Amino acid sequence: DADQHAWRPRYHFSPKRHWMNDPNGLVHFDGEYHLYYQYNPQGDDWGNISWGHAVSTDLTHWQELPVAIPATDRLMAFSGSIVVDHANRGGFAPAGATVPALVAFFTGFDPGTKIQSQHLAFSLDRGRTFTPYAGNPVLDIGSTEFRDPKVFWHEPTQRFVMLVVVALEQQVWFYTSRNLVEWTRVSTFGPAGSADGNIWEVPELFALSVDDDPTRKRWVLIVSVNHGSLWGGSGVQYFIGDFDGTRFVADDAQPPTLWADHGRDFYAPIMFANMPDERVLWLGWCSNWEYARELPTQPWRGQQSAPRELSLVTTPRGLRLRQRMAAEMKALVGPEPLFTARENSAHMTAASLAQAGIQGRQLMVRLRALRAGLDSPIGLELLKGAGESVKVGFDPERNSFFINRSCAAPRFKGQSERHDAQRLSNANEIEIEAWIDGSLIEVLADGGSVALTDLVYARPDASCLGLFHGAAATVSLLEVHAMQATLCS
Ligand code: FRU
Repeated sequence: DADQHAWRPRYHFSPKRHWMNDPNGLVHFDGEYHLYYQYNPQGDDWGNISWGHAVSTDLTHWQELPVAIPATDRLMAFSGSIVVDHANRGGFAPAGATVPALVAFFTGFDPGTKIQSQHLAFSLDRGRTFTPYAGNPVLDIGSTEFRDPKVFWHEPTQRFVMLVVVALEQQVWFYTSRNLVEWTRVSTFGPAGSADGNIWEVPELFALSVDDDPTRKRWVLIVSVNHGSLWGGSGVQYFIGDFDGTRFVADDAQPPTLWADHGRDFYAPIMFANMPDERVLWLGWCSNWEYARELPTQPWRGQQSAPRELSLVTTPRGLRLRQRMAAEMKALVGPEPLFTARENSAHMTAASLAQAGIQGRQLMVRLRALRAGLDSPIGLELLKGAGESVKVGFDPERNSFFINRSCAAPRFKGQSERHDAQRLSNANEIEIEAWIDGSLIEVLADGGSVALTDLVYARPDASCLGLFHGAAATVSLLEVHAMQATLCS
């Protein structure tokens, strides 16, 4: 019906039908990007967890393929990662084969015993189908909370590294291997960061360049934290530090808790392995365990963020994660802006925007305004309809960016909220980039040093765009673009 049509993301991936949570095994291989994901092939609630599969050649148009790793009666396939075994160290490719094996690591969950252990399965057909390794599990500590293996090749030590969470202990256990099947435990990280009572999930680790200098790299350890994150429910924490192939050591200087995204709906992000270039790109599940199973969509439930490029940036508050939209996303941004205004009083800009009557639920909006002289919040009214809207803005009093989704009709627990993120820059010009897609809003502010991702289920006819502001505000730029839909039918 109209609601579902309006809420369905058109340029973010969502499965045609049924339940989806975490992205899994993101990998580039032979000209294709693979997006596997936690999927219930039988219904729109969590269960029968399998690895669903979609593929893209450009990171923007996704084609859904048959389930890659199906659940069986005795084993669900929980989250994990994929490594391309170029040197055939695992011996899964037949001797003399020119095509390497894609080796998927996932947590096998036994619904009877509830034991979680690490399994592998390999693909010799470009990631379409996977054969379970006969010696599974490759790691089993008899635990019911041991999951989400991240495996990668560490060149300096010539070994594979695996990170696995021991969820209730708030720990990441590190293992190494030379052949992908025999693993030796080498170190432990955690507990660290956010409050007690949380569990850790989906660890991720990568090196990022600092201030766009490819010769300066630092390691970043990601843990997705369930319950008690920033606004309650699930969220993503990170630590900056060093990794020597064995041990991750976090810098002393950083605040105890750094959040990757300050909205409510960004979880379990992982990076694409085996990239054809030096970029680190990730995407995450846009939802929150606190209400994921109640979201009002059907026949699908779950959507992924757009791919974002990661780096580290020096801010007046220290080193921080920066997220910018992957360059590929530019191909979807309409070439001619629907609306442009420069160097004007906010009052005049708002008036001409209102006159232009811009409508759309697939938009990219960039707003730049001067901080000096701002005496009240300034920002965008998105998905605006009779008596409702979503506000995305900057609040000079709190020095924060925010999404306020409380002004749209509440459709799930948690929608009546405002989410703030401290501004990190001291520059006079503030910048908000908002990517709107039906029911999904990704905000990357101040060049990506602040990220806020939220879901909102506005009425299907709520599609206008407005500008709110105080008396003295100056807008240096307001640019509105239509986003091209990529949904294939
Ligand atoms: C994270 C998570 C993982 C687990 C998967 C199960 O959202 O809870 O820890 O492997 O989802 O679907």
